[in-house]
Amino acid sequence: MKKVITYGTFDLLHYGHINLLKRAKEYGEYLIVALSTDEFNAIKGKKSYSSYDERKKLLEAIRYVDLVIPEVNWDQKISDILEFKVDTFVMGNDWEGKFDFLKDYCKVIYLDRTPEISTTKIKNDLSLSLK
Ligand code: CTP
Repeated sequence: MKKVITYGTFDLLHYGHINLLKRAKEYGEYLIVALSTDEFNAIKGKKSYSSYDERKKLLEAIRYVDLVIPEVNWDQKISDILEFKVDTFVMGNDWEGKFDFLKDYCKVIYLDRTPEISTTKIKNDLSLSLK
């Protein structure tokens, strides 16, 4: 069974996220999402609207997602790939080239982002509409 892994915050889940997860799953039969914890988001300078547990429940309800694990730091990717025997690492192309060092361990694929949608855009649009 081919395993795929992807990483992210997935806050205010939107169709760009679903589109990414659907295409990631097409590279195998088992999709793992390493979901940034609230503590790791703080390190990244992000603050999510939904807590880790809430974001995890939403992801687990998506048919393409088989397992959600915590992403707690930048350096866990190689050990995740080895532990879960991952065949393919997938990220959106905002990360193009950044994870090429993982090619020693598995396939690395960057998928085109879905245009004109992001968590940041939703937050900005909603805050403007309330003014
Ligand atoms: N993603 C995508 N298309 C979008 C938005 C996100 O393919 N329009 C992908 C990202 O490239 C990443 C994954 O979804 O691989 C999780 O992205 P995340 O950073 O959690 O979502 P964003 O909407 O980009 O959040 P933010 O605005 O906070 O950066």
